Amino acid sequence: MSLKQKTKELLKRRAIAEQGGGDKAIQKQTAMGKMTARERILALLDKDSFHEYDLFVEHDARDFNMDKKVLHGDGVITGTGTIYGSPVCIFAQDFTVAGGSLGVMHARKITKIMDHSLKMRVPLIGINDSGGARIQEGVNSLAGYGEIFFRNTLASGVIPQISVILGPCAGGAVYSPALTDFVFVVDQISKMFITGPEVIKTVLGEEITMEELGGALVQAEKTGNAHFYAKNEMECFDQIKKLITFIPWNNGQKARAFPPKEPRKEYKIEDIVPSDPKKPYDVRDVIRALVDDSDFFEVQERFAANIVVGFGRINGETVGFVANQPLVLAGVLDTDSSDKAARFIRYCDAFNVPVVTLEDLPGYLPGVDQEHAGVIRHGAKVLYAYSEATVPKVTIILRKAYGGGYIAMNSRHLRADFVFAWPTAEIAVMGPEGAANIIFRKDIKEADDPEAMRKQKVKEYKEKFANPYVAAAKGYIDSVIEPETTRRILMHSIEVSANKNVGQPKKKHGIPPF
Ligand code: HXC
Repeated sequence: MSLKQKTKELLKRRAIAEQGGGDKAIQKQTAMGKMTARERILALLDKDSFHEYDLFVEHDARDFNMDKKVLHGDGVITGTGTIYGSPVCIFAQDFTVAGGSLGVMHARKITKIMDHSLKMRVPLIGINDSGGARIQEGVNSLAGYGEIFFRNTLASGVIPQISVILGPCAGGAVYSPALTDFVFVVDQISKMFITGPEVIKTVLGEEITMEELGGALVQAEKTGNAHFYAKNEMECFDQIKKLITFIPWNNGQKARAFPPKEPRKEYKIEDIVPSDPKKPYDVRDVIRALVDDSDFFEVQERFAANIVVGFGRINGETVGFVANQPLVLAGVLDTDSSDKAARFIRYCDAFNVPVVTLEDLPGYLPGVDQEHAGVIRHGAKVLYAYSEATVPKVTIILRKAYGGGYIAMNSRHLRADFVFAWPTAEIAVMGPEGAANIIFRKDIKEADDPEAMRKQKVKEYKEKFANPYVAAAKGYIDSVIEPETTRRILMHSIEVSANKNVGQPKKKHGIPPF
């Protein structure tokens, strides 16, 4: 055969392999409102940037009639490409081929591209659409998952790992995403569960739909398994692309800097926060008043909304924000918000992203439910994450900073680099009402007019402690600042911290509270 004929033969083979599960299976996929694995990769990556590997891989299973089955590419597409010019490694499971189930060769393709991403120190994106371990391949498919989990763990904190759930993902297909940094879900399309409704019905007699059990909203709002929720696949890909602009390729680099831009005029910081500590406001507007172009990219927006975390840029540099949200539960720390904050802080620390903390909270949430849900160990994660982090850490106390909340939200004592307070800050062991009731209990009880005495004692306590100046007198905060100077002060704090260099005692690894 001539070169031309051989090339023709290659193109023919390639066209066949690229058919995936064939027309009928593709029609079924499309009817469910889902793109095919190949369409997804092409939609996500820069135009013409995708390079595919292992297209001609075939499975070698023989049991349960598998010897008669042709599974193109063994149900997964792998390769490299770019997003806004930044290189990424990618795999997309093809549900049209045996339900995207994971057999030995399928797993080998994934682990090969994972090894590549770790070796090349570039982000890994996994598009998951799979019924889990391929049942016909038995323990070999379990081995495949084990190899993937091991690599997810090895790569954790070295390269960004992004998981996209775009189908019914069961068993192993959800544990790998759970080991990665960011999980994206799409309304009505994504389902995540360890065992599906049928198994649950058989074993426990409970009836539930797939959507109610592990649909996109459940994962984004209730479980916290998902970090980003989108209405459709294209919106999801836009979110991934945006995330890629905020994070570095690996832990040895900083995120790409962009040309600085002033925040938009409609966000005036001095008009957002009411001075009355009982009045709520949306802390995301404060962040928008601080970041370039008022562009705040929120992470886990729908989960534990009493804390807000996400990325923005200050003077062109990526910054991670952790902010109490007075709009929800007065911004308290509880089990879920502690988990959310701690994980985000650890992400920023691993990938050289400075952390800015905006503080306004009455403390940790009290109550039997919280105590029994383990608020002690969950809450401790915030203390651990801030104490452990060595990236630049700046805190702005907007209003309330009471008790454990004061310490936990990146206080000087956990080694914040800079702590600033607005004149509206109140820094004390607890709020004036609660404090007066405890320390002046006897005076109030014995007074002729207990209510008048209570009010007077609350006023006394407020005058003494409900301000930033006691903490400023001790040097626990560095400066009391005018709100409108906050962005300028943040810019400077981050600039002077650019070469921050602090060590940690030598250890194999710490043992964070889980
Ligand atoms: C082999 C599978 C498969 C699997 C689906 N298929 N899952 N083949 N192994 N795990 C095949 C189906 O036989 C079918 O093939 C095709 O994929 C499409 O599946 P359908 O059932 O027709 O699709 P749908 O109705 O949309 O349902 C999707 C599903 C369901 C919810 C994912 O297929 C399902 O429940 N699958 C099994 C899920 C599961 O229990 N997996 C094992 C998890 S244990 P044909 O040829 O008919 O088109 C696990 C261990 C690791 O993963 C644990 C690590 C900790």
